[in-house]
Amino acid sequence: MPKVVVTGKIPQMALDRIKSLYDVWAWQEETPISRAHLLQEVKGASAIVSLLTEKVDEELLSAAGDNLKVVCNVAVGYNNIDVASCLKRNLIVTNTPGVLTDATADISMSLILMTTRRLGEGERVIRSQKPWAWGMFYMLGSSIQNRQLGIVGMGQIGMATAKRAASFGMKIAYTRRNRLAENIEKELNATYMTMDELLQTSDVVSLHCPYSEKTHHLISTKELSMMKNSAFLINTARGPIVDEAALVEALVKKEITGAGLDVYEEEPKVNPGLLNLENVVLIPHLGSATVETRTAMANLAIDNLISVLDGKGALNLVTA
Ligand code: DGY
Repeated sequence: MPKVVVTGKIPQMALDRIKSLYDVWAWQEETPISRAHLLQEVKGASAIVSLLTEKVDEELLSAAGDNLKVVCNVAVGYNNIDVASCLKRNLIVTNTPGVLTDATADISMSLILMTTRRLGEGERVIRSQKPWAWGMFYMLGSSIQNRQLGIVGMGQIGMATAKRAASFGMKIAYTRRNRLAENIEKELNATYMTMDELLQTSDVVSLHCPYSEKTHHLISTKELSMMKNSAFLINTARGPIVDEAALVEALVKKEITGAGLDVYEEEPKVNPGLLNLENVVLIPHLGSATVETRTAMANLAIDNLISVLDGKGALNLVTA
């Protein structure tokens, strides 16, 4: 039986699907496995089912050895995997697009509302039992109706966020490596802009591009200074797309009005400079965190695994 190593806890239903088919070793704790332990357990594996908390790099691949055929990531983002090394070894890499689109777009929309309407701040007032009273000028936020949402990276999650924001009355602008076809732009009622134009004109900028060397610190001091002082930045994509130190500075100096973050540059660490700021909403990478979505993600990773080990090829092939 081929050995399958599952690097983190996944829903039991998905695990049960492979238990009778392969020799399965799965980490069963909620907390991530230690690197040393994983390097030990991965020996002889034909397949690795990886979570985004585990780095699948040259060291892990060589620890696995020559039986390894496929790495199935239980995430749409795969920056935890050294894809170039996998391809050099003729390994197949798969991910889980589609099944987490709605859940992640829901979180982007939630952060747009939380930041513009100061909901984190409001909740902190109530919980700390500070005195408060309804007042004409008390804790006023910004309306989003007729305001421009600038989407950076208009893929599936960007589009789903755009649709939600449009139903709240926002105008949609986007930037993307390749401009969308005219009929899709029309359907989304979205205006294509260059990155600079989008940063300069948007009231909310929401990041939805994949993380790579090219998008590392895509948003840093220069980009933040191009944004309106009244604007908000939302990141549900990957932490290192934003230069967190530059963001702290921009928030402190009120160069932008606020930010909503689901992801962090050195996750799970959060830049201490963010922690005491009222104008930032911080949540712990919850984009895909619903029971239904996590089950669908695990099942899709397992579908890919079975298909590859059966010799039928990948369903969601990662090529670069
Ligand atoms: C993904 O799939 O990349 C998400 O970040 C997981 O929550």
